[in-house]
Amino acid sequence: MDKILILDFGAQYTQLIARRVRELSVLSLVENFDFPYEKIAELAPKGIILSGGPSSVYQVGAPLPDKRIFESGIPILGICYGLQVIAHLLGGEVDRSAHQEFGKAILVVDDAKDLMRDIGDVSKVWMSHADKVTKLPQGFAPIAHTDNSPIAAVKSEQRKIFGVQFHPEVVHTSKGKEILGNFVFRICGCAGDWKPGNFIEETARDIKARVGNETVICAMSGGVDSAVAAVLIQRAIGNQLHAVHIDNGVMRKDESRNVVEYFKKNFDMNLHHVDASEQFLKKLHGVTDPEKKRKIIGNTFIEVFEKVAHDIKGARFLAQGTLYPDVIESQSHKGPSAKIKTHHNVGGLPEVMKLELIEPFRLLFKDEVRQVGRALGISDDIIDRHPFPGPGLAVRILSDVTPEKLEILRHADDIFIEEIKRHGIYTDIWQAFAVLLPVQSVGVMGDERTYEYTIALRAVTSEDGMTADWAQVPYDILARVSGRIINEVRGVNRVVYDISSKPPSTIEWE
Ligand code: XMP
Repeated sequence: MDKILILDFGAQYTQLIARRVRELSVLSLVENFDFPYEKIAELAPKGIILSGGPSSVYQVGAPLPDKRIFESGIPILGICYGLQVIAHLLGGEVDRSAHQEFGKAILVVDDAKDLMRDIGDVSKVWMSHADKVTKLPQGFAPIAHTDNSPIAAVKSEQRKIFGVQFHPEVVHTSKGKEILGNFVFRICGCAGDWKPGNFIEETARDIKARVGNETVICAMSGGVDSAVAAVLIQRAIGNQLHAVHIDNGVMRKDESRNVVEYFKKNFDMNLHHVDASEQFLKKLHGVTDPEKKRKIIGNTFIEVFEKVAHDIKGARFLAQGTLYPDVIESQSHKGPSAKIKTHHNVGGLPEVMKLELIEPFRLLFKDEVRQVGRALGISDDIIDRHPFPGPGLAVRILSDVTPEKLEILRHADDIFIEEIKRHGIYTDIWQAFAVLLPVQSVGVMGDERTYEYTIALRAVTSEDGMTADWAQVPYDILARVSGRIINEVRGVNRVVYDISSKPPSTIEWE
């Protein structure tokens, strides 16, 4: 399969470049800027993209790639800092004192032969840079300009090296997709064969070859990643897969039952349903600290899963739905930012259990997993489902977790989701849910004074969960949800709507 290699110089947009290339049905891989040349040669990409980055090429210790890439004959596209790297390493000049340019600019094409082909004479582009290239290396020519940047795009036709000062990967660059398309198809000659059907076939074949007659186990929460992984692996090896669904007692209304029924009925899955809710709830008894709740749930999960796995004879492999962004994050020098919450799912399992890992989605973004899931015939209901945290409702009850509070929260949450779906806005929202606050307040129902709990409704829009805005759910829908919750859920007499964005708030309340 054709690949485009993206060397990461620390730009906030690097993953976006990778996604845009994949949207063109071309496999893209992200590696650090110092990825050794020998490995690049081994990978044999059809093209290399040098990402943007916050550095200046003249800075001491500025990130620079192995210079041999420029002699390799592999087509190269430098974006922003990537362009400055090309100019700097090949004998051009970069001006450090140039005025920084941030925001929209009008690009005028001067040479529409290859990179700028079929994008029109004039289009909008997004600039975000301080330094800029002032003298081109020998053999290079400008191919487009803006008012502020006489050298907004360049090429060396003979060496197949190109560069753009703007960001083609962001939506504000109106012809960005076409420009990247020109690079990967016209210049690099990629076939565009990165498609869900091909991925499923190839991956199923690889899994079968690796697993042979052995047994694979897979923890299946009902979330998208683990569900699609289980169905794909079952496609490859049938009942040699043992999927395990553990009810941890903090799932949503009827969730465990529905998940198990759906996959047994529609995929004839070899699925073990383990109801461990009592064990979890016992350990959570009286615990109010959010981090403690997370740890208890994570550790208990490992305990329960280990026991179940032990009973499945000869299990040698453990399947997990790890995604590409996690892989990129863990391989980069940048490291994750300060830990705000421990996101504990099945982390730690492989080390404890000494199983070999199968991670079919190590190279996939979330939207690609969804496409694969659809191609495998999994229903939209499961594929489009909002993310749900591993510690479940335990981190949405802002006090100790009791069966009574769980019952209240499940009912309220169910009403909220039902109404959002009924009004057709479920898929416009990244995540919507109810939170039970440990706050009782006075109300009046009939002629009676009440003193009951408060439910907070949270709905956010987001691209990736890293940042989020509160969703502007229409008032009439909120009114209906509030009316139904107060009327139908015993123990609640007040409903509030959370209008905080992330940052500075987080999506979950704990
Ligand atoms: P926060 O609350 O950190 O959440 O803004 C960002 C995204 O992560 C989900 N989340 C979790 N997911 N285990 C998970 O699997 C966790 O412990 C956990 N905590 C938060 C959250 O639902 C949102 O999608």
